Amino acid sequence: MSLPGYALVTGAGSGLGRGIALAFAASGSAGVVFADLNGPAVTQVAEESRKVATNPKYQVLPLKVDVVSEEEVDSMVEAAVRNFGKIDYAVNCAGIGVRVPAAIADASVTEFQRFLDVNVFGIFLCTRALSRAMKAQPLRPVSESNPARGSTRGAIVNMGSCASFVATPHVAQYTTSKHAVLGLTRNAALDNTSHSIRVNCLCPSWVDTPMVSEAVAGNPSLQTLMDNAVPMGRIAQVDEIADIALFLCSDRASYVLPLSVSLLADSTRTAPKYKPVTTMAEGAKGFITDGFPAPGLRKTQRLITGLAEDGKGHFLVTDHGDHHRVMGEQQAVAIIPYSTKENPVELNGEVDVKFAMENEPGLHIINGTVLRLIDFGPGLESPLHRAMSIDYGIVLEGEFELILDSGESRIMRRGDISVQRATAHRWKNITAGGTEPGRMLYALLDCKDVFVPGSGEKVEGFLGELEKEYEGRSA
Ligand SMILES: NC(=O)c1ccc[n+]([C@@H]2O[C@H](COP(=O)([O-])OP(=O)(O)OC[C@H]3O[C@@H](n4cnc5c(N)ncnc54)[C@H](O)[C@@H]3O)[C@@H](O)[C@H]2O)c1
Repeated sequence: MSLPGYALVTGAGSGLGRGIALAFAASGSAGVVFADLNGPAVTQVAEESRKVATNPKYQVLPLKVDVVSEEEVDSMVEAAVRNFGKIDYAVNCAGIGVRVPAAIADASVTEFQRFLDVNVFGIFLCTRALSRAMKAQPLRPVSESNPARGSTRGAIVNMGSCASFVATPHVAQYTTSKHAVLGLTRNAALDNTSHSIRVNCLCPSWVDTPMVSEAVAGNPSLQTLMDNAVPMGRIAQVDEIADIALFLCSDRASYVLPLSVSLLADSTRTAPKYKPVTTMAEGAKGFITDGFPAPGLRKTQRLITGLAEDGKGHFLVTDHGDHHRVMGEQQAVAIIPYSTKENPVELNGEVDVKFAMENEPGLHIINGTVLRLIDFGPGLESPLHRAMSIDYGIVLEGEFELILDSGESRIMRRGDISVQRATAHRWKNITAGGTEPGRMLYALLDCKDVFVPGSGEKVEGFLGELEKEYEGRSA
């Protein structure tokens, strides 16, 4: 991919900005502006770029710039236009990451404001100044061979993050700032399309840069989160993200905008990595702090109706269910909205209501039914188990992966339903890449003996690690 025009990169002194600026030089750019708060760093990177540059007329312009200063940002863009005549590609990478995480109740006002200043206001100032400069530039055709691809005045890429879409515990300042970057970019894209300027938001998950090393040093549990959430089993290399940034700046991306496409450099949310484990997830330990519901999920109502002497239906009970039980090491909480001991069920005299109230069932009830709702902690994966029942599973909140003992697995989203016919399986809560709680509802009905087709071998139920959760309870 050749990008023969002029580029401007903020945050070019380190990490992604540095890698992207060097990639422009290596991809034939005629000139690159290296902008960063760290003056000596950009001067050094600019010199380094001369060694990789491939355009014989290559020029560099290193600038010490604070993106929070309106004056400095405007001067940066003016200097770029004065020196190079125009800016064809701009990537706004200057930003800060969290070094000391804190829950929202303990969050610092100064720290929160600092993130809004650098990550949001800084991107706003740069996008504004770049849009003004690009609007004044002449149009050029995107493709000589296909005029229908239109013309361009330039392309801007703002660095968002997977935090533009999802939350990670204890980093509200970062999540807020990156959600804002996506919103700002969408609006800038909308406002600029009529001027033939494309603005996109690049949203990687974790990339191997100094920012991530510092974040892991401040919060070692982040390493576990990254290991579990990234489908490829490793975080991204800087040059892999640089390739995407350059594509977005190039004419090849002439039809890419953030208005209908949210460009993610990682599929953390939709295709979590499957790591076989036999115990409940480490990351979810201690997550259930106060019984039902799990933090972040709604309390549900249970309504029980019955016939009264007037022959009409009335609400008998309004509560949350008869039994609830915290599971594992506070990694999940199960409530039993209802259970029955027979089929057909005796409703007269409210014997069923009495049975449900007085008996906390095991995994299922012989000849009966169990309705169970489970709140899963973030990333929680249940051990492999098999209930000798027909088991209807419905996702109420979040996203889950249903993994069978054959190795087959399916992703289930809110409202999806599984009908498990006595198969051995495990559940994994993959909500927000394994960072948020999720909720499943299960209805289990007893079934007749099941035999393996062909061999005729009788299938037995087993609970594995879940055994201790159901010990001593009626079956
Ligand atoms: N590294 C990741 O995993 C990752 C993932 C997603 C998004 N991002 C985003 O990518 C961008 C770059 O991150 P990185 O990992 O390369 O970080 P980094 O710390 O390696 O580099 C950030 C650069 O921005 C500069 N900077 C900070 N404040 C500035 C200011 N006020 N004015 C000008 N320059 C300033 C720093 O001096 C530094 O050179 C950030 O916006 C970050 O949020 C990073």
